[in-house]
Amino acid sequence: MASSLTNAPFASGIVVYCRAGFESEAAQELDATAAAAGVAGFARTERNAGFAEFVLTQQGAPDALLRLFGWSRLIFARQSLAVIGQFKALPREDRLTPLLAALPAGFQVGDVWVETPDTDASKPLTAFCRSFNNAFVQQLRRSGALDPRSPWRLHALFPTGERCLLGLALIDHSAPWHQGIPRLKFPREAPSRSTLKLDEALQVLLNAGERERWFKPGMSAVDLGAAPGGWTWQLVRRGLHVTAVDNGPMDEGLMASGLVTHKREDGFRFQPRQRVEWMVCDMVEQPRRVAARMAEWLAAGWCHRSVFNLKLPMKKRYLEVQQAFEAMQATVAAAGRELEIRAKQLYHDREEITVFAQTR
Ligand SMILES: C[S@@+](CC[C@H](N)C(=O)[O-])C[C@H]1O[C@@H](n2cnc3c(N)ncnc32)[C@H](O)[C@@H]1O
Repeated sequence: MASSLTNAPFASGIVVYCRAGFESEAAQELDATAAAAGVAGFARTERNAGFAEFVLTQQGAPDALLRLFGWSRLIFARQSLAVIGQFKALPREDRLTPLLAALPAGFQVGDVWVETPDTDASKPLTAFCRSFNNAFVQQLRRSGALDPRSPWRLHALFPTGERCLLGLALIDHSAPWHQGIPRLKFPREAPSRSTLKLDEALQVLLNAGERERWFKPGMSAVDLGAAPGGWTWQLVRRGLHVTAVDNGPMDEGLMASGLVTHKREDGFRFQPRQRVEWMVCDMVEQPRRVAARMAEWLAAGWCHRSVFNLKLPMKKRYLEVQQAFEAMQATVAAAGRELEIRAKQLYHDREEITVFAQTR
């Protein structure tokens, strides 16, 4: 059977990659997305698998499914794929033939990525993935199934050496990193490792055009809970003037940039004298309290845009996030503004998610 976009095979479900330990949140999100769109099926997970699945009652066109369960729309998904094949026991002597047989004649992909879930148990498979990826590319090329103009990327996810989920991603609407993990290098001059979190947030939550338009030298920002300055460093690197709010000390090298004003004040009470382009916040506090303060800023128009962390509670993490966002929407709507929220559990996030919010 072929689907509408080119002649892609139909999909039996969706698989998303996630942080190990957050399969249940990823599954709840898949269930909620399906329920809202009236798509029948059920989510399933395995503990610490590093991925979650949504199994469709009826097969669907992968492009339509990927629009609905798109990576950028899901908080707990690092990557989102339409599943076109499930293999429980691939023969070790020839894993390739059964996988190739799942592709209909004439169907072409632009690339193929062989991956494992991001778990300790799957780490020993890294070398196998690399060599199998090369063999897969060669075989696809030989059979004419590789065409750089194709919108599709084929993914082979190996939780074990014998088990494989074969999936499709739309190249322009998927995470452009292997395993959905941007490999960022820690900048040696940055004052803390937290700097990678804001860097990753900007890579994942914004597109290239937004990063360029929304960060221009001379713009202003407030960093709440700034010390020692990893997030401030990212803003200064982009030429922004930053008011860093924290009782703790800021990095001396960063202060020498001349672009930072340090205020030893309470981040929950601080108000800017003038509207700023950006407010970022990395204060470790209850998610509801942080979300409420972020909403106050956006509702009052003290900032255009914000990036902040929400620490997740031990239980009902998905519900807590939904409630925090609903409360934010209500606060901003009451001020006559419209709020856009994008959120992701980043690779550098542990028991937390990172949120981008802007008023329109
Ligand atoms: C995780 S650290 C921030 C790290 C920082 N983003 C970086 O990249 O270096 C949290 C910071 O929030 C600050 N903080 C917590 N509660 C605060 C409050 N009510 N007002 C101001 N700062 C606060 C702490 O002093 C601490 O420096």
